[in-house]
Amino acid sequence: MYIENTGSWVAFAIILTSILTAWALNYSAPKVRVFGTLLAALGCFAVAAWFFFFVVGSGLLENPKPNQTPLDSAKPSLLWAQAIIALSSGLFLLFIARGQSKSNHTLVLASTNEAGRYGRVSRMLHWIIAILFLALIPMGIFASMIPEGTEYRVAYYVVHKTLGVSVFLLVLFRLAWNRFSKRPTLSDSLTHKERKLAHGAHITLYFMMLAIPVTGYVMTSYHGYGTYFFAWELPPLWEQSDVYIVWGAMHKYLLPYLLYIVLGAHVLGALKHQFIDKHDNAFKRIVS
Ligand code: HEM
Ligand code: HEM
Repeated sequence: MYIENTGSWVAFAIILTSILTAWALNYSAPKVRVFGTLLAALGCFAVAAWFFFFVVGSGLLENPKPNQTPLDSAKPSLLWAQAIIALSSGLFLLFIARGQSKSNHTLVLASTNEAGRYGRVSRMLHWIIAILFLALIPMGIFASMIPEGTEYRVAYYVVHKTLGVSVFLLVLFRLAWNRFSKRPTLSDSLTHKERKLAHGAHITLYFMMLAIPVTGYVMTSYHGYGTYFFAWELPPLWEQSDVYIVWGAMHKYLLPYLLYIVLGAHVLGALKHQFIDKHDNAFKRIVS
């Protein structure tokens, strides 16, 4: 029980931090937006510090739970790559915060979306979900490497499943919100090909935000385990069955590898639009 409770509190703290960061990033006063960028940088450094001090120190990169498929041997390299990306993103955000600190622009935003930019609600949803989603990936990989019987194993599952269910609920709300408040059309400054790519990436990301938590839940249920949501444990909905292997193949291999490609294209595309094509308003459509 103590371990489950610790996991619930950690999940609660991560969700609160993601809400605070998303709120500060889009606040009207410029100084608060700088604080938001600094919080985002701190989040990236926290992921890197967790990896370099806790994960590397745990010795599990060399001695993980026995591999279930040959693909599992890529996990240490995936975690190294993600930690290096987190560290570089943190440094990049510090650099952005320095530039942002010179701005005295007051951001005036409505709750609903406008034709050329996202409103407050869509921005909050995009950034809260993005932060939780990005945290869930290394956490899931590490959780799956922890050998049975390790003291903190259950706590990792409590945090992973609680955040996963929260993302799923937030995405349902986001889809309902999109029906209520029409999403802005893609920027005119994109070429025809870029518009097609950006549109395809957005649709695939919506699909991923639903399919990844659903396959996680179904895999867990067929495996005979409950799904934690904070201190509650939702019981499995079906009899235990080997079908969990099929759902596991989707949650653990197929969808994450597809996600790396689509998310990479999404983030690199946004960075290219802002910094290489020099469309200063690219990021401003959704943040700051
Ligand atoms: C931290 C990295 C991220 C950056 C820099 C970023 C950047 C952006 C930008 C600039 C837009 C606005 C595109 C436009 O002008 O129309 C956008 C939209 C979007 N992003 Fe991200 N994003 C990030 C992470 C994520 C993650 C992790 C997800 C989902 C798992 C995601 C899903 C989406 C979706 C679905 C849209 C379209 C929103 C809509 O029209 O409803 N993003 N992102
Ligand atoms: C947006 C939400 C989610 C994301 C992005 C996500 C992502 C991941 C990733 C990347 C892994 C590592 C796979 C591997 O390399 O073996 C993983 C593992 C896992 N996920 Fe999720 N997940 C999400 C939601 C959920 C939910 C809702 C559940 C259950 C209710 C769940 C249950 C699990 C379990 C049990 C594992 C470990 C499997 C093992 O021990 O081998 N996930 N997840």
